[in-house]
Amino acid sequence: AGLFSAVNTVYKKKGYNTDAAGFAAAGFSYQGCRLLVLGSGGAARIMIHTAAAGGAAEIVIKSRTPEKLKDLLISLRSRYPQCRFAAISDLRETEAAFHYILNATPLGMWPQAGGLPLPREAYLRLLQTKEIRAVFDAVYNPPATRFVLLARSSGVRAEGGLRMLFHQAVEAQKIWHPELKERFDDPGVRETLRRGRQGLALKLFTDFPQKILLTGFMAAGKSTLARKLSEAIGRPEAFVDSDDYIEKAAGRPVREIFRKEGEAAFRLMEKKALSRLLAMDESLIIATGGGMLQDPELLSLARSAGALIVTLDVPLEEALRRTAGDTARPLLNKPRKAVESLYNKRRTNYLEAADLVIDAGRPPEECLRTLQSMLFAEDFAADKK
Ligand code: S3P
Repeated sequence: AGLFSAVNTVYKKKGYNTDAAGFAAAGFSYQGCRLLVLGSGGAARIMIHTAAAGGAAEIVIKSRTPEKLKDLLISLRSRYPQCRFAAISDLRETEAAFHYILNATPLGMWPQAGGLPLPREAYLRLLQTKEIRAVFDAVYNPPATRFVLLARSSGVRAEGGLRMLFHQAVEAQKIWHPELKERFDDPGVRETLRRGRQGLALKLFTDFPQKILLTGFMAAGKSTLARKLSEAIGRPEAFVDSDDYIEKAAGRPVREIFRKEGEAAFRLMEKKALSRLLAMDESLIIATGGGMLQDPELLSLARSAGALIVTLDVPLEEALRRTAGDTARPLLNKPRKAVESLYNKRRTNYLEAADLVIDAGRPPEECLRTLQSMLFAEDFAADKK
């Protein structure tokens, strides 16, 4: 408790801090590593001490007020002479490669799930380096933040804060009930705890209104997957298909709206529908029409409402195969060249809008498994590297 100057557990008049044990549950090894820590509050200090004590070679602390960290740096340098420490306010002040990136800021926390603790482009670049091993987010609601999802999309292992929250509580239990300490190593108990943690991730989704938007080209599987995902997490009522929603409100099918009133009229209806859906006081998994989030205005509407955006990336050939003979989609009843150029133009936007990208050329069951674990399993490890 002394190191962190904070206590979260009191037993027999003695104070303890179990957050470090909670953080250590991520199981990272820091020997010789270079780390980027975002933030400089209580959670950041726990991460910094844990990594430095674990043999880290260099820790760069990004803070809005690096000048306020002078005393901290002095004490860290004397305590951990093997480790270099630096405090910066801008990533451009440092070399661009880290083994671990740890978020200890509240950015990205519900209800502002659109937040990100560092600029998107800079983050994506760091995720592309060969050095990167894993990222960690102290934020646990949503269980997978934008920060976590972008890493998983890049094939980088990413831990959300739920495990830390859970394990600091388990550590506190061990302090309060020393006679039960060994019980926590029991495989049965561990499995029960794991399931409890999983249940907590879904409970957060139920109790804190969160919108998950699926986007991607026509026939990427947005409706199928949004429906399957909501069923798989036991919340079938969370599923909405924006085209169905519009058709119900307008009382006529999308192709008729296109034919009689034109595309511009349909886009206006889309905007209205999206605004309504985002304003609802419940969690929704929304399959958007393939053109909806192409409009920067609608995209920023979704972002500022704290929605998470999932792009289903489908190869053009596969999309065409799936829609052969389909007459319900007006934009596909065009020459191949026109469809191709629409696809290429849009794909760039889909990828830029995405917090999470999944390869949707695969069968739906496979996509569902990936989607479900990336969004809701806090111990999911996309350990491709
Ligand atoms: C459109 C996609 C369609 C539908 C409308 C316009 C588009 O939805 O909203 O035909 O612009 O891509 P799906 O992506 O579900 O086919």
